[in-house]
Amino acid sequence: MNFVVVKDYHEMSKRAAVIVAGQIYLKSKSVIGFATGSTPMGMYRELISMYREEKLSFSEMITFNLDEYIGLAKENTNSYHYYMMENFFKHIDIEKENINMPNSNIEDIDKECRGYEKKIAETGGIDLQVLGIGKNGHIGFNEPNISFEATTHQVKLDEETILANSRFFTNIEDVPRYAISMGIQTIMFARKILLLANGKEKADALCKAVTGPITPDVPASILRLHKDVTVIMDEEASFL
Ligand code: GLP
Repeated sequence: MNFVVVKDYHEMSKRAAVIVAGQIYLKSKSVIGFATGSTPMGMYRELISMYREEKLSFSEMITFNLDEYIGLAKENTNSYHYYMMENFFKHIDIEKENINMPNSNIEDIDKECRGYEKKIAETGGIDLQVLGIGKNGHIGFNEPNISFEATTHQVKLDEETILANSRFFTNIEDVPRYAISMGIQTIMFARKILLLANGKEKADALCKAVTGPITPDVPASILRLHKDVTVIMDEEASFL
């Protein structure tokens, strides 16, 4: 694992954007796995600036999002579909058909999950996967005690995750209890991984993931077995 400690959120976002941009400059048809949540928001802002000011083009980039709630329409402001469109995709020159997000508004979720995996494989696999980390060490929506062998699947959210994500909803009751998430195996098959963490509330999870035992209790700990992971953390999240 490569560790980069930066001063603050702004610095983390800039460093992360440079890595994503570098991937696209080197291979315009890159397949990038994107994450949602508050962590990568600044990175998306930086990438939009690079598109506007540095002529960085996303016209050939193919994307796969990590996860999506079950039970929210795409237009719902809390859906990850809405988040990605509003915070990133609608501001850049990405082709609509190159955007892939799990579709949870479908009867057969298992079929959707199998189809998502197949599509990732058909593109040649993910070149760079961007990740945040949950306070309980989750990545995507792979909650503690996940099977490391899991591919894209339906997950039940932990109470801690429901509570953490309730900050975006009017009532905690409105937070979906289920989601579709890429599995640990899907994530580990990415050629490169970029893990972002900021703020002191992430320090404990990050420390456990990076220095504790590799265990499904801390899903992010599996990343230590990946050959090309860069962790960018701000001083507050740093365990160093
Ligand atoms: C959410 C998402 C994850 C995200 C994590 C941290 O539940 N499913 O993909 O990385 O939790 O979120 P945040 O960046 O808002 O702290």
